[in-house]
Amino acid sequence: MLEKFKKWRSSNEMDRPSLEVDLENIPNHVAIIMDGNGRWAKNKGLPRVAGHREGMKVVNRIVSRANALGVKVLTLYAFSTENWKRPKPEVEFLMKLPERYLSHELPKLKKENVKVRLMGCPDELPPHTLRAVETAIDETKDNTGLILNFALNYGSRTEIVKAVRSLATEVEQGALSAEQITEEQLGKHLMTSDLKDPDLLIRTSGELRLSNFMLWQLAYSEFWFTDVLWPDFTEEHFEEAIRVFQKRGRRYGGV
Ligand code: FPP
Repeated sequence: MLEKFKKWRSSNEMDRPSLEVDLENIPNHVAIIMDGNGRWAKNKGLPRVAGHREGMKVVNRIVSRANALGVKVLTLYAFSTENWKRPKPEVEFLMKLPERYLSHELPKLKKENVKVRLMGCPDELPPHTLRAVETAIDETKDNTGLILNFALNYGSRTEIVKAVRSLATEVEQGALSAEQITEEQLGKHLMTSDLKDPDLLIRTSGELRLSNFMLWQLAYSEFWFTDVLWPDFTEEHFEEAIRVFQKRGRRYGGV
């Protein structure tokens, strides 16, 4: 019995955030470009999809840690509008990941009070992918913990163009004047209209670019880049990013 308790306690301690993170200053919204799955697999002599499979396990761990730390929104770039250019078998594999992940993890997400969301163009997603995500969205809609926002078939320029089109339509119909188009108005037409902008952007794998990710929303976010490949990314790396964020002075253009 005692042994069982000790095991339970130590596994629970592993799940706890470390003391070095200031729990009073947790970024509200963290966005992550999960990069380096292909290179991770190549380095190990494995097919690229093995990297994506391992990357999915990392998603699971980071979601739990983000939730435990009190992050409100975690946006994960899982598939971009440009990723369709990849070889068909890889695209098909990537489109199966949400189902695989959610078929395993949905009960845990529900238990952890996580609310699943989708950011991207749903129309082009295969029905099986969309169905899995929509089921998760529906079954977690009343949850009040971490918002887990999957960017799937997402591209920031497309998102902005759609927002501009929708504003133009409102102007054409006389519902809005050109002068009434403000940053706030445009923001309301983006896929993140009800979310605050990310406070922290993390990109793994050593690449230093945004790759068409949340170009509008990241205007004042803090960036943290690491050479670590996504499948090697751990809860400790995540906390390191948050600690660095906590040391930054955010002035939003002021002094
Ligand atoms: C970029 O690495 C990664 C992706 C395009 C896919 C990211 C997907 C996951 C991490 C799993 C998602 C999990 C769920 C639950 C949806 P890359 O393939 O471009 O790597 P490379 O730059 O080394 O080739």
